[in-house]
Amino acid sequence: METRPLDRSGAILILQNGGNFMAEASGDLDRPDFENGCEIDKVADGEMLLGHAFGEAILVARRGAELVAIGATCTHYGGPLAKGLMVDCTVRCPWHHARFDLRTGEAIAAPALNDVSCWKIEKRGQQFFVTGKADRKPARKPKASPVSVVIVGAGAAGSAAAEMLRREGYEGPVTLIGADEFLPYDRPNLSKDYLAGTAPEEWIPLRPPEFYREQNIDTLTNTSVTLIDPKKKRVMLSDGRSLGYGALLLATGAEPVRLQIAGDDLPHVCYLRTLSDSRHIIEKAENAKQTVVIGASFIGLEVAASLRERKIEVAVVGKHPQPLEKILGREMGNLIRETHEAHGVKLHLARTAAVIQDGHVQLDDGTILDCDLVVVGIGVRPNTALAEKAGIAADHGVLVNEYLETSAPGIFAAGDIARWPDARTGRKIRVEHWVVAQRQGQTAARNILGAHERFVAPPFFWSNHFDLHIRYVGHGSSDDQASVSGDLKAKDASVVFRSAGKVTAVASIGRDVENLKAEVALEHGDEFHAL
Ligand SMILES: Cc1cc2nc3c(=O)[nH]c(=O)nc-3n(C[C@H](O)[C@H](O)[C@H](O)COP(=O)(O)OP(=O)(O)OC[C@H]3O[C@@H](n4cnc5c(N)ncnc54)[C@H](O)[C@@H]3O)c2cc1C
Ligand code: FES
Repeated sequence: METRPLDRSGAILILQNGGNFMAEASGDLDRPDFENGCEIDKVADGEMLLGHAFGEAILVARRGAELVAIGATCTHYGGPLAKGLMVDCTVRCPWHHARFDLRTGEAIAAPALNDVSCWKIEKRGQQFFVTGKADRKPARKPKASPVSVVIVGAGAAGSAAAEMLRREGYEGPVTLIGADEFLPYDRPNLSKDYLAGTAPEEWIPLRPPEFYREQNIDTLTNTSVTLIDPKKKRVMLSDGRSLGYGALLLATGAEPVRLQIAGDDLPHVCYLRTLSDSRHIIEKAENAKQTVVIGASFIGLEVAASLRERKIEVAVVGKHPQPLEKILGREMGNLIRETHEAHGVKLHLARTAAVIQDGHVQLDDGTILDCDLVVVGIGVRPNTALAEKAGIAADHGVLVNEYLETSAPGIFAAGDIARWPDARTGRKIRVEHWVVAQRQGQTAARNILGAHERFVAPPFFWSNHFDLHIRYVGHGSSDDQASVSGDLKAKDASVVFRSAGKVTAVASIGRDVENLKAEVALEHGDEFHAL
């Protein structure tokens, strides 16, 4: 269970999937009442205690003699911060690794974009009391202030960057240009609850339009940047206008790889990248009985799971003998396959689609799969053409340094297009993860303002398949050695990936804190041992 239970101001709206968290949230009110006082000794040094005050769930944390209190519910999807990990004076959310400052409540790392509340705490004798809300957010002044900032691409990275510029106190013009017809939205949900029909439309925008007006962020939708002139510091727009910039961020994301087989252009063949794509599939799914999903990687399998929720028959065609084995290892790949099969998904593995016709897909071995809808998810390609045309260095992605600056000074790149030096191996890597894109957008924004901050966060992504919630931290390769710790069948395990004896990545199911601990170990270059 982990869906979007929050509105964009951080207030809890609805909880779903069995209401696990609802039970937790109401149970919070049976926990210590911080308004009426709680023994200081109940909070051990370096630990957190969940309780409530003024009708809200509150987390109190202790560092030596210092006690701090913040809201206990993550502002991303409502994750229970008390079940997360305290690291110095921050807490990391167990669900998708957002970070909050325990002293101020500030959301210091995506995917949470809103702060949690911050509370005043008073010690009286052996007890502490939460006495009311506090506002401890520091006013910030950027070190550098370009005359204007233009952001190309209004997805995860671009939108997070625009917000961060304002959060860091930048007061100059910010223009967020997006080819998409919509303002920034929650792309990962498009293959999950939204597609399954369990997430309402209002959960999808990342922010309401007023947010951008209030923040004085100029948003251009349905508008592409067609050319960049780094010498003149100008971009050309698809509507014929041009725009000057002081600093530029490229965050153009990726496009789905297209099939190249007979019938690939038939009207019942769909791809999934945008909100319009997801709506299009939903519209088709309303009258569909049988779907063939071509591609058995994350998006293909998430689509399969969501369409099964809609009671549609689903067959998945995957070219490898085991789904996701290269990324998650054989055992976890096997568990994912079994989980899909148990939910009625028919998997056709080690097969490719040869021909698509009106009522069926024919596989390379001649198998005919009847269908009235085809969804293709065979990978994406980074949108690097714009950067390349401007003479910016690219090689399987736009090349950036550890500060996310491209070969053109003053032009940064973030998200699915960026290939950056991995802090752990020194290798240039490019990943396609929501949290990485947002965090790179945040780091790029700070660096545009002169912060000179390295991007060092280990990559993190999550993926949902029915009741399997996978968290993956780090950056492994298919050559790494994978060892399972725990019981995968009981959904209580981590797969630890190692190269030359060093941990490169950890994929966990049912072990959220362990995954967070792996993240910390990867950050510090420490050895990591799963339970
Ligand atoms: C269906 C789906 C589900 C996913 N689920 C997960 C998940 O569960 N977990 C996870 O970690 N990741 C997930 N991802 C991946 C994640 O969404 C991407 O890694 C992330 O969105 C990348 O962010 P970005 O800002 O680089 O690109 P995007 O979010 O794709 O944004 C790029 C934007 O740039 C615009 N653009 C492109 N060219 C131009 C131009 N020339 N001018 C103006 N605008 C332009 C595009 O229209 C687009 O809106 C999912 C992706 C999809 C499609
Ligand atoms: S719910 Fe906390 S990071 Fe997603």
